[in-house]
Parts: sequence; structure tokens; C-alpha cells
Amino acid sequence: MRRSTPPRRSRSSTRIGVRGLGMYVPPKVLTNVDLEKMVDTNDEWIRTRTGICERRVAEPGTASSDLAYKAAQEALTQAELDPKDVELLIVATTTPDMLFPSTSCLVQERLGASSAVCFDLSAACSGSIFAIITAQQYLLTGRYRNALVVGAEVLSSFIDWTDRSTCVLFGDGAGACVLAPVRRGGILATDMGSDGSAAQLLYMPGGGSKHPPSHASVDQRLHFLRMNGTEIFKLAVRRMANSAKRVVKAAKLDPREVDCFIPHQANTRIIEAVAKWADLPMEKVYMNLQRYGNTSAASNLIALYEAVRDGVIQRDDHVVMVAFGAGLTWGSLLLQW
Ligand code: UT7
Repeated sequence: MRRSTPPRRSRSSTRIGVRGLGMYVPPKVLTNVDLEKMVDTNDEWIRTRTGICERRVAEPGTASSDLAYKAAQEALTQAELDPKDVELLIVATTTPDMLFPSTSCLVQERLGASSAVCFDLSAACSGSIFAIITAQQYLLTGRYRNALVVGAEVLSSFIDWTDRSTCVLFGDGAGACVLAPVRRGGILATDMGSDGSAAQLLYMPGGGSKHPPSHASVDQRLHFLRMNGTEIFKLAVRRMANSAKRVVKAAKLDPREVDCFIPHQANTRIIEAVAKWADLPMEKVYMNLQRYGNTSAASNLIALYEAVRDGVIQRDDHVVMVAFGAGLTWGSLLLQW
């Protein structure tokens, strides 16, 4: 639906905060031991090099919109927002159901969010941070009064299950949040960046206009994710650490005043290095990648959901979220809970 109401001006002091959270992961668990039977790998290598013990994998035929819908439903319930009243719906995904229409329109239909303006956002693993910041801008101008942001991925459909260097890393899942103006707390600072010169470090060559599906493209395995892990590792550390530092500085806080650090859940060693560079102590870092692996655009929102659910994040806490992904893209935000 096209929303053409005139902009509603908000007061400059207005902040945007999280009103509700949701998450959904498919029930099927794929452990490192299961992977030992599929490729030449072992539990010890995966645990020590990545921190991952298991991940969730969707059943064939399950789409990103299926996971997104369930996470979104929970976020709307938490926020006590009727689907019909959602004004903006953004789905961040690298694994849309199909090239078009957008996954967000498919989620809109399932939810009955008939008044929402819907679009997808493609920023790979930084997707949920980019989508939250995008929604925040619309809410700050007063253009919309609320936004539903979902990060959802079925990466298992695009993983080369014969490539041990990538198939052990990723998992499926969805996280969601409802954003709206808040009276206290909210988003204090944001940061985003991109670098297309390193696009070939993490990409999926096939399926788009450059290499549309053909027998040849399938034979060449172009429809699977490809990654230079070592280079991505180095850039991820530098970009995420600098981005996290920028939001802490922009919010005029000292790193010691950060209560919880929610990094993109890619690799324990990356996260430890980022925390060190950004002067954020490891005891404040939240990690759940051991259970889910890297769920790309869903990762930060699933981690935020669990940190709040488990009482790790308390009211008024300062939370830093930071992400990094293909593009390259990176982004972070500092919010007061
Ligand atoms: O959201 C961003 C998405 N991407 C990432 O976050 C990935 C970032 N990169 C990484 O996390 C790491 O680079 C990896 C976990 C992918 C790899 O760790 P690494 O310490 O950089 O290992 P490596 O690529 O240097 O490989 C070391 C060895 C190689 O063997 P050789 O050449 O030394 O004999 C690999 O062939 O480990 C081997 N190897 C494996 N062995 C067992 C690679 N994958 C596996 C595996 N099991 N699954």
C-alpha cells in the first residue's frame, strides 16, 4: 500500500526506541558432529576457530518470509501493536523468498499489516542494523509513527554443503523489533558505512541479472555463497571496532559506561578482537553464536532478543549493537534500554 499522509513533525528531542522484540528459529538442529558426516571437518576445529557448536536449519520449502512472519508476530504482540496499525515494514534479508516481490510484502500479507509501506533492505549481515537506522530516520521525521523491522535468513538454501570452509559457519533464523518514539532511553547514536571495493570477498555470483540461472551456472556452482574468510576476518575486526568506537564517542559515553555489547554473531575470535580494539570488556559482550552460528541479518536481533529475555539487559542500560557483512557493509547503534 502507498502511504501518502503528510509528514507529522516530531519534536527534535524525540528519540526512537524498541517497543517489542520477537525471534524465531527453525526446530531442526545441525550439530558440528552432524557436519563431520557431511564434509571433512571436526567439532574441535569448528569450536576453536569459530565458537559455533550447532546451528538451526530450515526444512526444504521453508522460506525467509515464514521465519520472518513468526518473529514479527511475537514482536507485535510484545509491543501490543495491531498488525493493521503497522505503518512501515522493512525486512532485511540476503536470502529473500524470490527476487520479487519483496519478502516484506509477503510478510505484510501473512500478518495482515495492510496499512504498512513495505520494502526489503539488502546489506547482508549488517541488514538489521541498517534497517533499524533507516526506520529510525522515517520515525524521526514524523513520516511514520511506528515501524516493524525484521531480519530473516534461510542461508541453508545458498550454502554449498560440500564446502567445509563456509558450510560450518551459517544458520537460519529471524529476529524482529517494533520501533516507535519513546519518552526515555532510545537510540542515542548510529553509524553506517560501505566499501564496494571489497565486494568479491563475500558474494553469491549466480541468480541475478549478471549470471541468470542456467545449466552452466548450476554446473559452475554459482548459486552458492563464496567467501575469502581470512580477509573478511581482518576487515570485520577493524570496521566493527571503529564503528563501535564512533557510536560510543557520538553518545558522549566512556566505553566503561556500556552495559551490554551485542556484536554480529559471526565468530568468537572476531568478537574478542573487536571488544579489545573498542575497549569493551568481554564480560559485557553477549554471545549466542554457539547455538545459532552466523544468521546474517537476523543475528543482532536474535542476540538482542535473548539478552533482554534472559535479563542480561536491564532498563536504562547502554547497549551497543554492531554488525559487519558482505558489500562490504558495517554499522552500529547505541541505545539506552
Ligand atoms: O558475517 C561475515 C561472514 N563471514 C565471516 O564472519 C567469516 C570470517 N572469517 C572467519 O571466521 C575465519 O576466517 C574462518 C572461520 C572462516 C576460518 O578460520 P581461519 O583461522 O582463518 O582458518 P583458515 O581459513 O586460515 O584455514 C586454516 C586451515 C586450512 O587448512 P591448511 O590450508 O592450513 O591446511 C583450511 O583448509 O583450516 C582448514 N579448514 C578447515 N578444517 C576443518 C577450513 N575450514 C575447515 C573446516 N574444518 N570446516
